[in-house]
Amino acid sequence: MKNVLVCRGITKSYGSGDLVEQVLKRVDLEFSQGQASVLVGPSGSGKTTLLSILGCLLAPSNGELLVENNPVNFSDKSSLTEVRRQKLGFIFQQAQLLPFLTIDDNLSVIGRNAGMTQPDIDQRVNKLLDRLQLQPLRHKYPSQLSGGQRQRVAIARALLHRPSIVLADEPTAALDWNTGKTVVELLLEQARIENAVLVVVTHDTRMLPLFDRILSIADGLLVERQQTAATENTFYTETNLDHPPGF
Ligand SMILES: Nc1ncnc2c1ncn2[C@@H]1O[C@H](COP(=O)(O)OP(=O)(O)O)[C@@H](O)[C@H]1O
Ligand SMILES: [Mg+2]
Repeated sequence: MKNVLVCRGITKSYGSGDLVEQVLKRVDLEFSQGQASVLVGPSGSGKTTLLSILGCLLAPSNGELLVENNPVNFSDKSSLTEVRRQKLGFIFQQAQLLPFLTIDDNLSVIGRNAGMTQPDIDQRVNKLLDRLQLQPLRHKYPSQLSGGQRQRVAIARALLHRPSIVLADEPTAALDWNTGKTVVELLLEQARIENAVLVVVTHDTRMLPLFDRILSIADGLLVERQQTAATENTFYTETNLDHPPGF
């Protein structure tokens, strides 16, 4: 299977002199087409930092990032913008929809930024609104939607321009468990239909069994955990959330 996203020897430090904090020590990772990974780790362990580098939003201190086999040039702002607009879709904790645009227009603007033709945008908006059951909401404004509905729009927006990589940073943190689980299931289903690489950061270990790969980060080091029968079959209860097996 094609490697869509590759990290080679990625490190990241913040600060300078005596105050340097090395957040990522050395990350080597390959993500192949259609693969869904979850990234877990304690607060402050570098999850958002890693996701921001994968998303070409933040330059690593060292190492190389390849998107569809092309090395990303972090010093060239215009090519970075181009890679983000063409190849990447993002979902954040809050949907971050544009408040003055309808749902329809929030989606269309992404297609225009990516250089899609208007007929292609219209067809794509329609298809995603259908798939995410958002047709009845298309003429509404973000403030008229619930948190779960807004995240469904955020999924449609992240996929609109057919990105090969979709990154989500704690997309369910603002939602209750049932709504959050539905959002993650929809995100997984839609990313699989699109054959996109998906990387989701979450605090919620109950989500782990849903993913193909589990990446765990602590003290600047990334470790891959195998999905075991135990993780696949266990939906952690509220009480053992802090200490799930193997974490
Ligand atoms: N822009 C920044 N400048 C300085 N330190 C930062 C910056 N962003 C993050 N950090 C530090 O890097 C560490 C990892 O942060 P982050 O990637 O946000 O972790 P997580 O998403 O796992 O909570 C933290 O100690 C944080 O304080
Ligand atoms: Mg974070």
